[in-house]
Amino acid sequence: MATVVRAADGDVDRGKYLVEEVAKCQDCHTPRDAKGELDKSRWLKGTTLDFQPMKPVDGWHATSPDLTPSGRLWKRWGAEKLTRFLTTGIGPGGHAADAPMPAFRLREDDAKAIVAYLESLK
Ligand code: HEC
Repeated sequence: MATVVRAADGDVDRGKYLVEEVAKCQDCHTPRDAKGELDKSRWLKGTTLDFQPMKPVDGWHATSPDLTPSGRLWKRWGAEKLTRFLTTGIGPGGHAADAPMPAFRLREDDAKAIVAYLESLK
C-alpha cells in the first residue's frame, strides 16, 4: 500500500492552529505588503521585522528565517531538530535563538504538529 511519507508525523490541522492562532509565528516570520498586511503569498517565508525595542536588547535579531521546507533552515535542521528546538528552546548548536524569538518549550505532540504543518507548506 502506498502511503505518503512525511518526515514530521504530527497533526497538520492542529499545527496550523498553534502556529496561526496561539504562537502567531506569522507576526514575525511573514513579510508584509505595502499596506502592512501579512503577505499570504509569502506565508512564513521569513522577513525583516517591522518593530524594534525601545531600549537596546542584547543580540536583537532584526530578521527572521524562512520556516517553510524550501528554506535553508529546513535543509540544515530537518523535522527532528526543528521539533527538538520547539520543545527545548535550544537549537542544534546548543543555544537559544536571539531575541525576539521566544524560547518555546512546547509539549512534544504540539511541536510535532507545528513541524508537520510547516512541512505541508511550499
Ligand atoms: C516575536 C517574533 C517571533 C515570533 C512570534 C516567532 N519567531 Fe521565530 N524567530 C524570530 C526571529 C527574530 C528569529 C531569528 C533569531 C535568530 O536567528 O537567532 C527567529 C528564529 C526562528 C527559528 C530559527 C532559530 C535559530 O536558532 O536559528 C525558528 C526555527 C523559528 N524562529 C520558528 C518559529 C516558530 C515555529 C514560531 C511560532 C511557533 C516562531 N518562530 C515565532 C522571531 C519570532
